[in-house]
Amino acid sequence: MKTIKTVKELREYRKTFDGKGVSIGFVPTMGYLHDGHMALVDASVKANDITFVSIFVNPTQFAPNEDLESYPRDLDRDLKLCEEHGVDCVFTPDPDEMYQNQKTYVTIEDLGAHLCGKSRPTHFRGVLTVLTKLFHFTRPDRAYFGKKDAQQYFIVKKGMKDLNFDLEICPVDTVREADGLATSSRNVYLSEEERKAAPIIHQALEHGEASIVKGMKAQDLIDQITKEIESEPLAKIDYVSVVDQEDLAPVEVIDGPVLVAVAVFFGKTRLLDNFFYGE
Ligand code: PAF
Repeated sequence: MKTIKTVKELREYRKTFDGKGVSIGFVPTMGYLHDGHMALVDASVKANDITFVSIFVNPTQFAPNEDLESYPRDLDRDLKLCEEHGVDCVFTPDPDEMYQNQKTYVTIEDLGAHLCGKSRPTHFRGVLTVLTKLFHFTRPDRAYFGKKDAQQYFIVKKGMKDLNFDLEICPVDTVREADGLATSSRNVYLSEEERKAAPIIHQALEHGEASIVKGMKAQDLIDQITKEIESEPLAKIDYVSVVDQEDLAPVEVIDGPVLVAVAVFFGKTRLLDNFFYGE
C-alpha cells in the first residue's frame, strides 16, 4: 500500500493508471477509522480495481467554535486498517498542502440550508470544497459515502452532478454497534453514561419508522420521535426533521420518499442518525 502526502506525488501516481482500463474507487475520510468507514472501503475494494482513501481532517468544514483541534486522530492505526482491507493508496496531506490562502469555495444553494446547515452554516461549503479538490487529484470512477451523513450524501451527489464530475456517488448503509448506536468517530467523546444512553436515538427512529403510514402528517412523526428521545434526560435534541429526498426541504405530509433525520447532543457531542423512507 502506498502512502502519499503531496498533491504532486498523488497526481503522478494516479496517472500511472491512465489508459490501463482499471476502475478507481475513492473513500474520502477524516481518519480515526471505524467499522462504518471500513464498510465504505470494503464496498470500494469489491467494486473497483484500485481503491484510494484520503485521511484529512478538513479545517474548512469546521466553524471556529467546533472540534477541529480535538478531533480524534490515530494515523498509524488507520494505515494498518487500510492495508488489511486491501486499500492501494492512502493520501494523508498536511493542511498546508491542501490550502494556501484559499479564496475559492464550492457552495450549494438550498440543500445546505436545512438539517445540519442550520447549526453549521459553513460546513457543507468546506465539504464540497475539499471533495472537489480530492476528486481532481484522484479522478475516481466511484466515491463512497455513508448514509448516516445523509445530508452530506445528497449534497455531494447533487453538487457533483451540477458540476458535471464524471463519477458515481455511492451510498453505503449505516453500520451500528451491537446496541444500535450508529458508528461515528465522535462516539469516543461520550462519557460512559452518555454512551449507555445514546442508543435511544436509534430506538426512537426504529419506532418512528414502524409507525409511519402513507399520508400521515410529518409533525406527528416528529412529535413521536422527539418525545421518545426526550425521555432520556442526557439527550438534548438539535433537530428532528422529515425532509424531501430531492431538495431536503421539510415536508408536511409523508407521501413520497423522505429522509427522517435527527441530530442529538449528549453533553457537547452531537450525534446524527436517520432512516430513508419510501426509497
Ligand atoms: O464525512 C467526512 O468524514 C467528511 O465530511 C469528508 C467527506 C471526508 C470531507 O472532509
